[in-house]
Amino acid sequence: MASFYDGVKLSTVTCVLSGLVALGSAGPTAASANAQVAAAAAAQAWVPDGYYVPPYYPAPYGGWVEDWQESYTKAKALVGSMTLAEKTNITAGTGIYMGSAFRVSFPQLCLNDSPAGVRHADNVTAFPDGITVGATFDKALMYKRGVAIGKENRGKGVNVWLGPTVGPIGRKPKGGRNWEGFGADPVLQAVGARETIKGVQEQGVIATIKHFIGNEQEMYRMYNPFQYAYSSNIDDRTLHEVYAWPFAEGIRAGVGAVMMAYNAVNGTACSQHPYLMNALLKDEMGFQGFIMTDWLAHMSGVASAIAGLDMDMPGDVQIPFFGGSYWMYELTRSALNGSVPMDRINDAATRIAAAWYKMGQDKGFPATNFDTNSRAAFNPLYPAALPLSPFGITNEFVPVQDDHDVIARQISQEAITLLKNDGVILPLSPSQHLKVFGTDAQKNPDGINSCTDRNCNKGTLGQGWGSGTVDYPYLDDPISAITAEADNVTFYNTDKFPSVGEVSDSDVAIVFINSDAGENTYTVEGNHGDRDKSGLYAWHDGDKLVQDAASKFSNIIVVIHTVGPLILEKWIDLPSVKAVLVAHLPGQEAGKSLTNVLFGHASPCGHLPYSITKEEDDFPESVTTLIDSEFLNQPQDTYTEGLYIDYRWLNKNKTKPRYAFGHGLSYTNFTFKAASIKQVAKMSAYPPARPGKGSTPDFAQSIPSASEAIAPSGFDKIPRYIYSWLSQGDANRAISDGKTGKYPYPDGYTTTQKPGARAGGGEGGNPALWDVAYSLTVTVQNTGDEYAGKASVQAYLQFPGGIDYDTPIIQLRDFEKTKELKPGETTTVTLILTRKDVSVWDVVAQDWKVPAVDGGYKVWIGDASDSLSIVCHTDTLECETGVVGPV
Ligand SMILES: *[C@@H]1O[C@H](CO)[C@@H](O)[C@H](O)[C@H]1NC(C)=O
Ligand SMILES: *[C@@H]1O[C@H](CO)[C@@H](O)[C@H](O)[C@H]1NC(C)=O
Ligand SMILES: *[C@@H]1O[C@H](CO)[C@@H](O)[C@H](O)[C@H]1NC(C)=O
Ligand SMILES: *[C@@H]1O[C@H](CO)[C@@H](O)[C@H](O)[C@H]1NC(C)=O
Ligand SMILES: *[C@@H]1O[C@H](CO)[C@@H](O)[C@H](O)[C@H]1NC(C)=O
Ligand SMILES: *[C@@H]1O[C@H](CO)[C@@H](O)[C@H](O)[C@H]1NC(C)=O
Ligand SMILES: *[C@@H]1O[C@H](CO)[C@@H](O)[C@H](O)[C@H]1NC(C)=O
Repeated sequence: MASFYDGVKLSTVTCVLSGLVALGSAGPTAASANAQVAAAAAAQAWVPDGYYVPPYYPAPYGGWVEDWQESYTKAKALVGSMTLAEKTNITAGTGIYMGSAFRVSFPQLCLNDSPAGVRHADNVTAFPDGITVGATFDKALMYKRGVAIGKENRGKGVNVWLGPTVGPIGRKPKGGRNWEGFGADPVLQAVGARETIKGVQEQGVIATIKHFIGNEQEMYRMYNPFQYAYSSNIDDRTLHEVYAWPFAEGIRAGVGAVMMAYNAVNGTACSQHPYLMNALLKDEMGFQGFIMTDWLAHMSGVASAIAGLDMDMPGDVQIPFFGGSYWMYELTRSALNGSVPMDRINDAATRIAAAWYKMGQDKGFPATNFDTNSRAAFNPLYPAALPLSPFGITNEFVPVQDDHDVIARQISQEAITLLKNDGVILPLSPSQHLKVFGTDAQKNPDGINSCTDRNCNKGTLGQGWGSGTVDYPYLDDPISAITAEADNVTFYNTDKFPSVGEVSDSDVAIVFINSDAGENTYTVEGNHGDRDKSGLYAWHDGDKLVQDAASKFSNIIVVIHTVGPLILEKWIDLPSVKAVLVAHLPGQEAGKSLTNVLFGHASPCGHLPYSITKEEDDFPESVTTLIDSEFLNQPQDTYTEGLYIDYRWLNKNKTKPRYAFGHGLSYTNFTFKAASIKQVAKMSAYPPARPGKGSTPDFAQSIPSASEAIAPSGFDKIPRYIYSWLSQGDANRAISDGKTGKYPYPDGYTTTQKPGARAGGGEGGNPALWDVAYSLTVTVQNTGDEYAGKASVQAYLQFPGGIDYDTPIIQLRDFEKTKELKPGETTTVTLILTRKDVSVWDVVAQDWKVPAVDGGYKVWIGDASDSLSIVCHTDTLECETGVVGPV
């Protein structure tokens, strides 16, 4: 979502403003909306053979899952009391920059970014980014960060939090927004999303899992009047086993909202994609909440409604600010002329109201008390209507940070990943003479928030850039923390190696380097969101800084703040490069979290949430290449590597990375022993038949009378706001159009509800997919004698040989972090494998299939994908220790 589009508040059912509504000519006509659909069809011609969008209609009703039924009953009653114009009013924003907050029975909802906290707000915490919490491999920390983020959003009156991000998944190492999510693996992303959603929604805030789907690069992600967004062409099995996996887990956790991606999939824009929304989200994954567009991603009226979209944000057409919309008054028109059936509109409005009831927002939810457009107290109430807007207090400066710095610091610290520690140079002693190099060690001298949405790379890199950011309340930077702790520190605030005079053998140089990325809204130092200019090398000539320092000092520690993998080959083997720490993106807590590790108050315990290869080309071209625009034609991003992203590809290709997915050292040593596996439930090849759909409210309704579409007399329209009313003339015309005209529905269109997909049956899919098939335990001992530490236990599954499916050699399926273990101390951890974990997606049966019931699956356990010293067998139910891993 782009910078100036947020903070938009959704319209209310009633309003105390009064006046007149002028409608009809503003915005696209029916003809132009149809032209968009025709153009989308033309785009299909550029999609490679074999990729297509299966028709899937109608949009499944919500409300059939037991857990949601009470909320649906209330929502149905509320929506039943609304006029047509009120229903269409709550399914869209009233436009960019809008900010009124009048409330009657259903409030104006506040939807706000960012996946790392509350965007564009005062007195909030800048939490570590998703990639950082992913690097902790710690479910409890993921959950606690969610709780804190939920509390802060609630405190500020944010009804709908626009996170977590699990798409992009991190298929392309140079992709711009990978850092918002948890790492380049479907299970790591799924667990990160699940724990975050639980934490946030337990505070009564609706979470939004995004972006569905295939948004794996930033450049050319958006349609505009001159250019098509790229099409991600993804085969069915890859979609299920990799990209949709985290979304299914988020839906199973009860997420209230899903945001569609800007790009197309198989040639059709996600915001009007019937297969993605109707078939996958609402039918197979049993999604009960509402589906929204990304900001300005809406491209059609009737087509998007029947494809299953429930909310158009922020309401405008793609060229905003003129009061035009594909929905609002157009959706009202589509209802009166019969092109969008009333059951679809009732279902969409009810889904939105049901999510609101489900989170308990009908009782005591704080009113929105901040303004994303300004930090002054007193501001225009209708910013887009300037100079006509009345003013009022929109910022109340409600402090919501509480003690969330504690959890933020703990996550930043426990994410720090020690890649290398030759000669045990770390931890340092405060009496050592330290020379610190690199501008990344210090705060941005222009001010920590001087660049909007962090759209510059100056000073300590605590966050990427774009809509995934939070304004810093403060920034605890590394150099302040180092200086506070060590006796003799010299800081060279430069990225060009300076003259340093005499150097003694005992001097230690700490070199800070970084690599940034973000949203395509901004270009930073030539990088268009994705790391297209810098590639996978440090910014500001950081690799040279390390090389130069290494030629002068014999003890170098490199600290890296980064959005994702870097190529380290220019210096990683230099004899003086003794230690390397990846501190990821620590948010506001970049200082003490680092010195706690540097000076040994805690052992590092982060692990890489992606692989670091020796060369960029160790990955296939389909993931190393950022696709370019093809003038007029639609750029095609075809997922030819299939299931094989990140370590899955490297293992298949027998390519050793420099540092493998999951790698991370400690100051102490752990031994894994006494592993056991037991079968919890016997699996059949396919899951038991899905439960039938529960009952849904009856959403059917005949076309309402024109009077339900007309504004109350004397209503004053605020300029550039979008309204759902029609004029009397337009309403009458719509009704007569419906009698004479016919909407050109797509092939396969029907209005008869289907019984439901075979693989469905509950939120996330058939509930039997989460039945536990096997459980494993392993004992972990701290076998060092000096330092306490936490161990990461990772379980990777290997499918049996001789099955009819090509599967990656190993795939992460579960993980746990131990408590802090003192020297000699032991603990036991439990890991589980569900039915889904031991299944593949059967594209013919359209169901999850256990390809070898009771077959010889191997479960590899260790502390990295290339450090797996235990194997457990599902056929013999025995485990062996001290083995050599499979890759
Ligand atoms: C739609 O919401 C806007 C903004 O709150 C409000 O002014 C208007 O009256 C609402 N329209 C209807 C039909 O309730
Ligand atoms: C994309 O096309 C493939 C056929 O290659 C099809 O199996 C898959 O379901 C399509 N996906 C979507 C989301 O339309
Ligand atoms: C935080 O809130 C206080 C009032 O409680 C206000 O004075 C201060 O300006 C706010 N801080 C920021 C950074 O806006
Ligand atoms: C009904 O209105 C919508 C929105 O303007 C338009 O796209 C559609 O073509 C209309 N249908 C008929 C039958 O005129
Ligand atoms: C600090 O370290 C430098 C060597 O790096 C040394 O020359 C200097 O005397 C030290 N200063 C103090 C106060 O110990
Ligand atoms: C690895 O991939 C490259 C292409 O990227 C290919 O040329 C090579 O044969 C592959 N090696 C193996 C062992 O699969
Ligand atoms: C502990 O691990 C280090 C590597 O981190 C290794 O060099 C050392 O030999 C190990 N010590 C023991 C006792 O296993």
